[in-house]
Amino acid sequence: MKHLIDLDDFSLNEINSIINKAIEIKNNQHKFLDVMHGKIIGTLFYEPSTRTQMSFQTAMLKLGGQVIGFNNPQNSSIAKGENFKDTIKVIGGYADIIAIRHPLEGAAKAASLFSDCPIINAGDGSHLHPTQTLTDLLTISEQKNTLSGLNLGFCGDLKYGRTVHSLVKMMLKYENNKFIFISTKELQIPKYIKNMIIASGNYYEELFSLEDAIEKLDILYMTRIQRERFKSIQDYNMQKNVFKLTTDKLERASPNMIILHPLPRVDEIDIAVDNDPRALYFKQASNGVFVRMALILHILSAKNTEAVERINLNECCTNKLCITNHEKYLPHYFKKNKNDYFCEYCSREIKL
Ligand code: CP
Repeated sequence: MKHLIDLDDFSLNEINSIINKAIEIKNNQHKFLDVMHGKIIGTLFYEPSTRTQMSFQTAMLKLGGQVIGFNNPQNSSIAKGENFKDTIKVIGGYADIIAIRHPLEGAAKAASLFSDCPIINAGDGSHLHPTQTLTDLLTISEQKNTLSGLNLGFCGDLKYGRTVHSLVKMMLKYENNKFIFISTKELQIPKYIKNMIIASGNYYEELFSLEDAIEKLDILYMTRIQRERFKSIQDYNMQKNVFKLTTDKLERASPNMIILHPLPRVDEIDIAVDNDPRALYFKQASNGVFVRMALILHILSAKNTEAVERINLNECCTNKLCITNHEKYLPHYFKKNKNDYFCEYCSREIKL
């Protein structure tokens, strides 16, 4: 079985072929109408979603398959106390493929240990959102004709923004990309992402002003300040409205710069910006259907031949939001890189 937990699970060739397949599907939708006849996707959304859940459902329906699932776990037997493992085990017996979103980091990885069908990570806490990244790659590659040599600016909630973490990791696989992170001090990009950029020999800088950064960018990736991730409403109020993209600020940007946003938007992009031809976030959202169609086709036809190298330790992950600290029966799996150990679920480094 092939799962998609992190885009590192796929080779660059596989990712490029999914993007190319998405373009083929977009241009020839009639050819794919019945290719998933008899197949079922389970969409298990423990956290709210509009785009990801509905685009997975639309993708399977457009391919001729069917959909089961929930968008509120309180309407399922989880409300009666059923644990995560049992829910996944049962639905893995009903569906051919599962897309799961969960507030805890590493939840999709945990699901893949128990499921009898492939698991797709549709967002795990502040960790990763690989199918949003595929959507972003399709949109960038359509507009720029390349995924290399780009100046990428990320603005907003870079600490909790899983779409940012996934896209930065992915863009490191292509050559000569530069990263400009624009945030407050409190919402800076996590250290583990910065360490990855340094280890790969790429360039990044951190700025505190959108005006100072905008002239340099090929892509401006705006993000929402995620109220649901803050400990208190006071902390959130300190952060909201710090960065706002307006038509005035856009006057300083290149005419070829493109504006992306995974959506939903709150206040960080003025509605007037929607009329600017560089604003591509609604196109980006509609591309989500085609990449998810291509991904379902890929996963249901792929075989996983890679052996998993993992270490089972007595240590616990130090990340309180890692699923291993909530679903206590999960094995403590870690990966070793040189002398460092990383939690296999949430990617956090642990000190032994
Ligand atoms: N981009 C994204 O993940 O949107 P939803 O939360 O609506 O799925």
